[in-house]
Amino acid sequence: MNKKTIIIIVGIIILIIGSVMVKHHFSNHDKHEMSQEMNHENNEDKTAIQWTPSTRSALIKEMNSINQNYQSLVSNLAQGEWGKVVENSHNIHSAFILKQELSEEDMADLHSILPEKFIEMDSKFHDHALKLAMAAQAKDGELASMYSGKMMEGCVSCHQIYAKDRFEGFSTHEEVTHEH
Ligand code: HEC
Repeated sequence: MNKKTIIIIVGIIILIIGSVMVKHHFSNHDKHEMSQEMNHENNEDKTAIQWTPSTRSALIKEMNSINQNYQSLVSNLAQGEWGKVVENSHNIHSAFILKQELSEEDMADLHSILPEKFIEMDSKFHDHALKLAMAAQAKDGELASMYSGKMMEGCVSCHQIYAKDRFEGFSTHEEVTHEH
């Protein structure tokens, strides 16, 4: 074989490998799209968290505390009651579900049932509460309001995904966004 033939053969081999790879990529892509569509159809199943009775009651406890504190926070912030705002945001910050006095078993359950995204959203939310407390401490109303807005985004975006069954208003979230 001369050099030219070898180069041609190598060229053909590269072309074959290339086309196989492209095909593989696209068929994976199709599969990916298909599974995403399927996700849309039974979203509840994919995102619903499998709470155990006691981890669920820990969550509800956290939510009720957050809910109360957030409501007074908004009102206190509007009135420049800095000390109270600091207290409200500290309460929210420490209501972190993973920081509650849970049994070892519940803790292990939580770590296995909570999706990473949930933990991420929850910790971001609590981080905003802490930053709000610092802004209130510094009597920086503008910064504090910004963080109170970010916290509300946190409630809504988490509920849209993980509390669709609990809140009817979020149960049709996907259809609503498609209409716009
Ligand atoms: C990281 C996720 C997450 C964030 C952030 C979050 N929640 Fe929730 N919340 C949930 C989930 C999940 C449920 C539903 C639990 C269930 O299935 O009943 C819930 C339920 C609730 C409930 C109903 C509790 C009950 O008694 O049934 C209230 C009230 C509530 N949240 C308020 C808030 C408020 C107010 C904020 C923001 C200031 C907030 N939540 C932020 C996840 C979150």
